[in-house]
Formats: sequence, structure tokens, C-alpha cells
Amino acid sequence: MCGIVGYVGSRNSSDVLVEGLRRLEYRGYDSCGIASVKAKGGLYLKRVSGRIEALKGLVEADPPKDPGAGIGHTRWATHGVPSEDNAHPHTDCAGELVLVHNGIIENYLELREKLAGSGHAFKSETDTEAAVHLLERNVKELSARSSSGMLEPVFFEAFRRTLAELKGSFAIAAVWDKCPGVVMTARMHSPLVLGLGEGENFVASDVSAFLKFTRRAVFLNDGDIAAVRAGGAEFFDFAGRKARRDSVNIQWDSTMAEKGGYRHFMLKEIHEQAASVENTLRGRLLPLKEDTLAREINLDPAVLRSVKTVQFIACGTAYHAGLVGKYALENFQVPAHADLASEYSDRSKLAGPDTLAVAISQSGETADTIHAVREAKAAGARVLAVTNTVGSTLTREADWVLYTHCGPEIGVASTKAFVGQLAAIYVLAAHFAAARKAVFDSDARAFAAELLKVPRLIEDALAMEKEIEALAKRYADREHFLFIARHINYPIALEGALKIKEISYVHAEGYAAGEMKHGPIAIIDKGMPVLAVATSSRALKLMAGNMQEAGARGAEVVAIVDKESRGQVRASRYIEVPQAPEILSPLVNVIPLQLFSYYSALARGCDIDKPRNLAKSVTVR
Ligand code: AGP
Repeated sequence: MCGIVGYVGSRNSSDVLVEGLRRLEYRGYDSCGIASVKAKGGLYLKRVSGRIEALKGLVEADPPKDPGAGIGHTRWATHGVPSEDNAHPHTDCAGELVLVHNGIIENYLELREKLAGSGHAFKSETDTEAAVHLLERNVKELSARSSSGMLEPVFFEAFRRTLAELKGSFAIAAVWDKCPGVVMTARMHSPLVLGLGEGENFVASDVSAFLKFTRRAVFLNDGDIAAVRAGGAEFFDFAGRKARRDSVNIQWDSTMAEKGGYRHFMLKEIHEQAASVENTLRGRLLPLKEDTLAREINLDPAVLRSVKTVQFIACGTAYHAGLVGKYALENFQVPAHADLASEYSDRSKLAGPDTLAVAISQSGETADTIHAVREAKAAGARVLAVTNTVGSTLTREADWVLYTHCGPEIGVASTKAFVGQLAAIYVLAAHFAAARKAVFDSDARAFAAELLKVPRLIEDALAMEKEIEALAKRYADREHFLFIARHINYPIALEGALKIKEISYVHAEGYAAGEMKHGPIAIIDKGMPVLAVATSSRALKLMAGNMQEAGARGAEVVAIVDKESRGQVRASRYIEVPQAPEILSPLVNVIPLQLFSYYSALARGCDIDKPRNLAKSVTVR
């Protein structure tokens, strides 16, 4: 997630912008910048591929003269590596307009081709730059037609028309040196909020950027435009119709504001998962075209047709995503394995030019995963990286990179990055099926259509939060937990066990339910919580039997069910989640287990965002 700030008022806008960006540092970033318009025309622009401290140094060394309205940005790279050229704010050709953006412009390639074809000179690899050149084109066209000489209506209409041509998710702020008293802003699927002061107003991605100056806020809705001036803000819809927006008083302190009002980053990130999946699917499935991945990441469908085996390689939670990927690809009759990176060694002997190694890593810096990737490459395999971090080491080792668009994940326990990894892997599965369309073309389209419904199901699954909190409190005194599931949900049993282990420090095991009789059932004691993933599936009858065996030996079975499966299994307690096609159910079934681990750790007073002995990225072997 990038961070946006904007300011109009009598203070030195550069100081306010740098301070605002500092308050957004928690969001994670790799570069930053500010820009302001000078009251007498011209732009002031400072950007750095690095920390805000360095940006502050640039501003102090060359402070702006008579700065007017300004905008600033912290960048979490999605398109284009971290660099000064890719840092926001981005300017138009003439150096009169400047713009910042948070989100993903899906149609930026088409826009870029069209604008470059009409003479616009692009200086970055970002999707954002297409927006500022589009704005420049619209300003030019409308200025030529305007006879009134009033430039602000031109700016507004040009801004509005630019939004109408963008597809995807965006929170945008722009200034024009011909209108030094206004910041134009708009929101579509990326958060944006105004801060209303006395004779001054603020724009930000979240309130923490301006709480120091004002607690009065207006949260924009999707489809809102706001023209922000020192004396106030005007609101419109994307059709240009005037709108009314009420302000609220923010009660949070700055620490709570960074967590969006949640107690911990982990809980905030659990609640960001629908957006993580939506943003990772964006532009990759609708319509399911053979050349989508070729256009985005140069992964030609011929490669997907020639691959004989897929080897998922990862660690920890990312490995669980790879294990789901194995089941998903096998469903489309693509031979697949999943290996813990630290155990990959001899598997590489089976790799060759017709092997596709899929390395999954949120950080892109996990030493075991990078080492295993190098072994796979040495054996002749080609490598596709699934990662959340642009420019990470793994991206430089891979032949192709399929990014998850989750924004930085602050909590050590991986949640939104995990569902983002699953979404990316499902996208890959859909394109495998489409590329091998001799058998699965229609299935691939049906699969893609179902996949696009998942964000809504995740939101519905989060509605069980209160019930899960109560359940976690009930078991807060238990020291041993068992998680069981079958087939594509077996990795979710492993993930549920890992989550509660790593943040509650209790002993937990994830097991294939069918394996219970082969030993683990001996550990079941009276009152032992056994969490069973029992949503609709071909193996539900067998799952019901495993749950009964556990219950008969004194376990307290907590069943994750959907409406259809609830009446087919017996348990001590039930957590009902929305029904999803079995192949996609891991994306929904993991939600209650994440919440269960979170509230178990809360009940035990553990340090949830920074669990003992753990690092966010394990860069040693
Ligand atoms: C999961 O909650 C842990 N943080 C850990 O297992 C993590 O998934 C693993 O270390 C892999 O990290 P990566 O995705 O950055 O490679």
C-alpha cells in the first residue's frame, strides 16, 4: 500500500507533507517524494529512492520558495523497481502538473501506448505515470476550448475525464501550477480521507498523516472526487454531480490510527484480506485470455503448455500456499509437487528444462527459498516467483514474477500475504487450464468466474469474528490443539496449527484427517480441542467419521462448516463460513483459523505483532 498526503493552507506545505509522510512510514515503503506548486507558477519537486530522512535532507538543502498546494507519497512498488524515476510524485511533459497514486491502474499499458504514440515522453516504469500524461492531454484539450480564462473549472473537468478513463484501483491527488490553491483528489477502491482544519485542509491515505493538525475527517467513498482548498472542500461524483459528505471526529491516538483502529497490525491485515485477493486478481482473469500473463509478465502460454511438472518451493506459511497450489494444479491435471525449501535438495535432481519451479515468498528474501531456487535453476528448471516485494532478491533470480498486491504486511504472522499467494497461484492454475484448453477451456472460465467471487466470501467469513473470539477464550487454558482436514484443505489444517503456534506459543499439529488412525489419534485427551475443516467436499463423509472418532475419545471438536455440510457432521461447536467451490474453499476456510489464533494469543497476553524468537523475513539458512 502506498501512502498519499496533500495540503492546502498557510503553513509551509513541504514541512506538512514531510511530517505527514513520516506518519505513514509504518505502511512500509521503498521510496518517497513531495511536490508543491509555487504561488507564482512552477513546480517544486523532490523525490528519493530511500527513506523520508533522506527526503527531508533534500528539502532542507533546497527549500521551496512561496510553496502553494502540495502532495506527497510513500511508494510500495507494484510496477517498476524502487528508484528515483519510479518514485512519486510524477509530472507531465510540461512540468506543470504533478500527481500521486495508490492502487493499480489495470489499463496502464494501453494508455501508455496511446499517449506515447501521441508524443508523451514517459520517464518511469510505473502505471501511475500514465495517469498524469492523460491528465495533461485533457488539460490541454479543455484549455484550448475554454474562453473564460477560469482555469480551475478546466482543471476539475480534465481531472474528472482522466478518472473516467482509468480502470482498476486508485486513490489519486494532483496539483497544477496554474491553480496553486487547490488539490484535486479522487477515490476508487483505495482509501482516501480529508482532514478539515481552520483555513487549511489535508488529504491522506489514512488519518495518522494529519491527526497532529486536526481530528475532523471526511472519509471519501469509492467514486468520490474532492476539490480541496484552504477554505474548504467540494465533493462530486465521477459524473461531476455535486455531493455532500459529512465529517467525523477521530477519537484514535496516532498509534491506533496506524492500525486503522485495530489493536494489532495482524488483525488489521486479517481484515484487509478481501482487498488483497481482489487486488491480486485484478486485471488477470477478466476475460480469461491466453495472452494476459504474456502481456503482464512475459509468461507465454506456450511455456504453460510445455511444462511437464510444477515444483512449488517455499517455507512456512508460503509453503502451505504451495501445497494448496499442488492440489489446485492437479485438479487441472498438471503434475505438481510442493517442497519445503529447506528439504528441496534431492528434488532438484528431478528438475529439468520442462520443470517450472514456482517459488513463493512474501519477502522475496527467505534464504532457504532462494537457495532452493538456485538449485532448481542449476538443474535447468525455469522459475516463476510469487512475491509481495518488488525488487527483492527472489525477483532477480526468477524468469518471471507474479506479484501479489497485498501492500506491506507488518505483522510477523502472515495472513493477507498468504491469501494473496493463494490468489496468485489460482490465477496461475486458471491460465494453465486455459493454455491447455484442449481439455479444460470451459472449466477454466467457470473456475475464473468463481474465483472472482471469493473477496465477497472472505468478507462474509469475517462476520464470525465475535463467535470465534468467544471460542478462543473458552480454550485459552488448553496447551494442545489438533487441526485436521482433507485434500485441498489439508494445507489449511497445517496453516491453522502454525498460526496458533507462532503467536500463542502453544503446541498444535495440523494433520491429514485420514492419517488420524495411523497414530495421532492416540494423543487425544479428554477436552482436547480438535479443529476440523468440514466444509462441503467429496470427502465429507470420511471427514465426518474422523471427527466422530476424535469426539468418541473425548476431544472437543470444533467444525468449520458451510450451510450444506453443517447437517452432515457432528461436533461440539460449529463455525459456519460461506460455501465456496471445494477447490477454492481454502481461501475462505483459513479465515476462522486466523481469527482463532489471533484471539487465542490475545487471551494469553502474547505479543501478537512481534512474537518471540521470530523475524518477518528469515534471511539465514
Ligand atoms: C508465517 O506466519 C511466518 N511468518 C513464516 O512461516 C513465513 O511464512 C516464512 O518465514 C516464509 O516467509 P516468506 O514468505 O517471506 O518467504
